[in-house]
Amino acid sequence: MKIIRILLAAALLSLLSACSPKTTQLPADALVLRSPDTQLELKFAVVDGVPQYALSRAGEAVILPSRLGYTLIGRDALTDGFTLTESSFNSLDETWEPVWGEEAAIRNHYNEMLVRLQQPSGVAMNVRFRLYDDGLGFRYEFPQENKLTYFKVAEEQTEFVLPGDPVAWWISGDYDTQEYSYTRSRISEIPRLNAIPRPYNASQTEISPRAVQTSLQLKTDSGLYVNLHEARVLDYPTANLLLKEDNRTFQIHLTPDAEGVKGRLQAPCVSPWRTVQVCTSATAVLASRLILNLNDPCVLDDVSWIHPTKYMGVWWEMITGKTHWSYTSDFPSVQLGVTDYAHAKPHGHHGANNENVRRYIDFAAENGFDALLIEGWNEGWEDWFGCQKDFVFDFVTPYPDFDLPALNAYAHSKGLRLIMHHESSSSTVNYERWMERAYELMNLYGYDAVKSGYVGDIIPYGEHHYSQPLINHYHHAVVEAAKHHIMVNAHEAVRPTGLCRTWPNMIGNESAMGNEFMAAVPPGHTATLPFTRLQGGPMDFTPGIFEQDMAITAPGQEGRMRHTICNQLGLYVTFYSPLQMAADLPENYARFMDAFQFIRDVAVDWDKSLYLAAEPGEFIVTARHPKMATLNAGRWSGKSSVWEFVHPDGREHDVWYVGGITGEDARDVSVKLDFLQPGLRYEATIYADAPDADYETKPQAYTITKRTVDAATVLDLHMARSGGFAVSLREL
Ligand code: NOJ
Ligand code: CA
Repeated sequence: MKIIRILLAAALLSLLSACSPKTTQLPADALVLRSPDTQLELKFAVVDGVPQYALSRAGEAVILPSRLGYTLIGRDALTDGFTLTESSFNSLDETWEPVWGEEAAIRNHYNEMLVRLQQPSGVAMNVRFRLYDDGLGFRYEFPQENKLTYFKVAEEQTEFVLPGDPVAWWISGDYDTQEYSYTRSRISEIPRLNAIPRPYNASQTEISPRAVQTSLQLKTDSGLYVNLHEARVLDYPTANLLLKEDNRTFQIHLTPDAEGVKGRLQAPCVSPWRTVQVCTSATAVLASRLILNLNDPCVLDDVSWIHPTKYMGVWWEMITGKTHWSYTSDFPSVQLGVTDYAHAKPHGHHGANNENVRRYIDFAAENGFDALLIEGWNEGWEDWFGCQKDFVFDFVTPYPDFDLPALNAYAHSKGLRLIMHHESSSSTVNYERWMERAYELMNLYGYDAVKSGYVGDIIPYGEHHYSQPLINHYHHAVVEAAKHHIMVNAHEAVRPTGLCRTWPNMIGNESAMGNEFMAAVPPGHTATLPFTRLQGGPMDFTPGIFEQDMAITAPGQEGRMRHTICNQLGLYVTFYSPLQMAADLPENYARFMDAFQFIRDVAVDWDKSLYLAAEPGEFIVTARHPKMATLNAGRWSGKSSVWEFVHPDGREHDVWYVGGITGEDARDVSVKLDFLQPGLRYEATIYADAPDADYETKPQAYTITKRTVDAATVLDLHMARSGGFAVSLREL
C-alpha cells in the first residue's frame, strides 16, 4: 500500500513538473537585489536565453522563478534568445507630501536594479526592478537605441508562479467591468467557481473562467499577504491575470483593442509597473503605499484649487427609482438638437428639477457640506441606456426645468458648489467632441468637480473599457480637466493604478461595485475593497445609506441594503476617499439626525492613519487624524465642519476619528486609544450597533454614548453582522 502511494506521489510530481517547465531555483550566479530592510530578496537571471525573476521573503518563496517577456504581432517574440548585457543598481529614500491622502507624508524607500537585455538581432528590452520593504515593482523599458521602434503586442508574457495554493479574494476577469462581487477561495478553485454565470452588467466581456482581475489579494498558508496589481497604467492596456493549467501560475492577460492588438508601443516607452506587495499582516496591506510610490510625482504646479470634498447628491432617488434622470415620456426616441424638449410634457418624475434641487441645496448647506451632485440635469436621458448610440448627450444643454445659472448662484450664496455630471454613456468619441465646451460651461458657472460615467458598451465600436485607447481617453479627460481647474470622479472607468499621485485632480473613481449594488451583494464586500480596489486609489463608494428598505425610500420599489446604519458610519473612516458622499435622501437623514451628526463631523483629509485590526472580507478597524490646518482654514467654502477646532486661546483642539466595519459575522473588538496624546482628555462620541442590531432584522438600531477618555482607555465595541461603529474623539 505504502509503495503504491509513493509511486502515485512520484507520478503526480512528474506530471506537475511536466506542466511547469520552471525550476524552483534560479542559478547560483543570479543577480540579487534586497529590500531596504533586507527581508525581501529579488533574484534575476537569464536561463538559456529566457529572462526570469524570483521573489522571497526571509527565505520563504513568494514568487518562484517566473518568465518575463512579450509575444509580438508580426515579429520575433521577446521571450528568449536574450543575453544580459549590463546590470546597474540604485536606491532612493525620499519623503513626499500628497496633495490629499491618508497621511501628510509618504516615504518612498527602495533599492533598484536595472537589467539590460539584448537579442542577437539588436532588439533591446530592459527590466527595472524596485524592491521596497512592502513589495516589488518591475517594468519593461524599451530604450530608443533599439532595433525595435514601433511594435504591436500579441501578449505580455509576464508570469507570477506561486509556490502554493493560497487563498484569494477575486473577481472575474473582464475587459469591460469590475462591477462584480468578490469570491474567497483557494486559487486552484478559481476555474470551477468562476465558471458560474456572472450577473448582468451593462457592458461585460468575459475572458475565461481562469481569468481574474487585479488587485488580487492572496493569503498564503504561512500567513503572508501577497497582492498582485499594477501601477501607473498609461498608454497601455489594463492587465487581467490568467491562471494556467498548473493552477499555480498567473500570467498577464492584456485587454485587446478593437483589432485585437494588446498594446501599440513606440520606443522609447515603458510598461506599467507589475506589483507584488508582500506583507506580514492584513493591516500592513492597508498601510502600504507601494502603488502610489511607483507613480510619478505630481505634475501640476498649482494645486491650490484641489480640495477634499464632502458632498450630497440628487442621485440616490434616481438609483432607487423614486425619481428619474429623464424628463419626458413624449417621444419613442430622442435626438440631440432635434427633439423639442421645450414643448414636451414632463412626465412628472424628473429628479433634477429646480424645486427639488433647491431643497437639497438647503439641506446640504445647513449641514456643512461642501458640494451637491446633480444627475439627470441635461437633455438626452430618455435614450441613454442600452442603445449604444453615438450622439446621446452634448453635456451643455439643461432640461427646461433645470435653471443652471440660477441654481449655481443659489448654491454659491449658501457656500455650496454644485458638482457637474457627465454620463458619456460610453461614447467616448462624443464626450471628446464636447469636452472642451462642457468644461468651459463648468468654469463659467463655478463648478469645480465633475462626476463622469461610462455605462454601456464603448463607442468607438469594438473597444473595451480597459483597452489602450480607453486608458488614453480617461487620462485625456483628467489632463484637460486640470487645465480648467476641475476635479474628476470617473465611474465605470478603469480601476485606478495610483495616477492620482501625478494628477491629484483625479479625486475619485468608482470602478467596482459601490453602494448602488449593495442590495445584491453579500456582506463582506466592503471589508474586501480596501484590500483590492482601493489599493490603486480612492473609491467614490457613496456611503451613508441609512434607510435600507428601498420601498420606504421609493414607494413601489423592492430590495434591501445589507448593512446597519453604524456600518455606513464606519465606512467614512475605514474607506479612504478625499471625496466622500452622504448618499441618502435628506428626508431619510432627517429621521436619524443624531447619527447623521457623525457624517457632518467627520473629516475627509488626514495627516495620520492607523490600521488597528483587519482581515480581508471580515473586518477593518481604522483610526485617522485629520489635517488640522485644512479643517481650521476650512475648505473652499470656509465651513468644512460644524465643529470649531481652535480654542479661544488659539491652540488647536486635537481630534481623531475611529471607524469599524464587519462582514457576515458579528464581532466584538477592543480598541486601545493609545494613539491619543498622553496627558490630554478627550470627549468620545461613540456611535455603535445596538446589542440587538442586525443587518437583516434590525439595521437601524444604534446607540450613541459620550464619555471622557484618554490614551489609557480601551473601548470595547460590538459590531453586528454587516455592522460597524464610528467614534469622534475631541480634545476637551
Ligand atoms: C452608473 C453610476 O455608477 C451611477 O452612480 C450613476 O448614477 C449612473 N451610472 C448614471 O450615470
Ligand atoms: Ca457604476
